[in-house]
Amino acid sequence: MGSALVSSLNASPVDRIIGSPDHRGLDIANPESVSRFFGDLSEPPDVVVNAAAYTHVDRCETEIDEATQVNAVAPGLLAAECRSIGAKLVHISTDYVFPGEAGRPYREDDPTGPRSTYGRTKLEGEERVLSKDSGFLVVRTSWVFGRGRNFIGAIIGQVQLRRNGEADGPLRVVDDQRGSPTYAADLAEGLRALVASGGGGLFHLSNAGEATWWDLARLCVDEAGAPELEIERLKTKDLDLPAPRPANSVLDCSKAAALGVVLRDWREGALEYLRSEASPMNVRSG
Ligand SMILES: NC(=O)c1ccc[n+]([C@@H]2O[C@H](COP(=O)([O-])OP(=O)(O)OC[C@H]3O[C@@H](n4cnc5c(N)ncnc54)[C@H](OP(=O)(O)O)[C@@H]3O)[C@@H](O)[C@H]2O)c1
Repeated sequence: MGSALVSSLNASPVDRIIGSPDHRGLDIANPESVSRFFGDLSEPPDVVVNAAAYTHVDRCETEIDEATQVNAVAPGLLAAECRSIGAKLVHISTDYVFPGEAGRPYREDDPTGPRSTYGRTKLEGEERVLSKDSGFLVVRTSWVFGRGRNFIGAIIGQVQLRRNGEADGPLRVVDDQRGSPTYAADLAEGLRALVASGGGGLFHLSNAGEATWWDLARLCVDEAGAPELEIERLKTKDLDLPAPRPANSVLDCSKAAALGVVLRDWREGALEYLRSEASPMNVRSG
């Protein structure tokens, strides 16, 4: 997400990046690192985007302290710094704040009820940001793909292993979780549009439409030229993962749409990613 945002801003004729540190350049969970970073800025930014998080959903179940520091406490530190310099904080959050039992997409004012440590810590991060300033922007998104480790890369890697004769048999993918896969590049454009609209508070923003992980895998495998490759449908419980996942975490994005911010269908985003220079299809496995 962070690198998609940097690419989007670099291509903008009006926006300018004052700093875009990676984890080595800024540890958001370390108060000294945060205050040093803000103190060293060459000029005060209008907007600060926090795209950093502890995103290993399963590892959060055992690394509870680290997940809490990065996902819950750190956003509060950033919010305090932003308030003191008059910058608007844009903080990214997640669909996993919801329990997943609704029979329709979740709205911003629906009750939360995270089932995992990741979801609980991210929810606390949201609250800490908005309690510092209700005009800050907290944007929940879902099932993000782009540069870096992600589900699409894992699926393409499996296709390549079969092509190279290093694995065989069908793929096996979960088909009982519903969400909206979201292309980081589309989300970056949407975030900039939300900021430009002057919006503040809590927003949902993901690519339009909904899918299961199986649907997303099928699209990717077909696009990778392997429509004959079978994909078995698994149930979430078959995987026995440490962290529970919401069965339905589709986000209702109509609040952002009312400000004119709408992301295209997830299939278009996924195909564009698969055909881009950053596509995992350009990376050879093994
Ligand atoms: N990926 C998804 O499906 C998804 C879905 C919904 C919401 N989100 C949210 O979207 C945002 C962006 O996620 P992403 O998909 O881009 O995740 P990502 O690829 O895992 O990127 C997270 C980044 O945060 C950095 N980071 C971790 N701890 C840090 C710390 N203490 N200080 C500074 N940087 C730190 C990581 O660096 P290292 O790798 O070097 O630690 C990594 O570069 C997050 O808020 C996430 O919760 C993601």
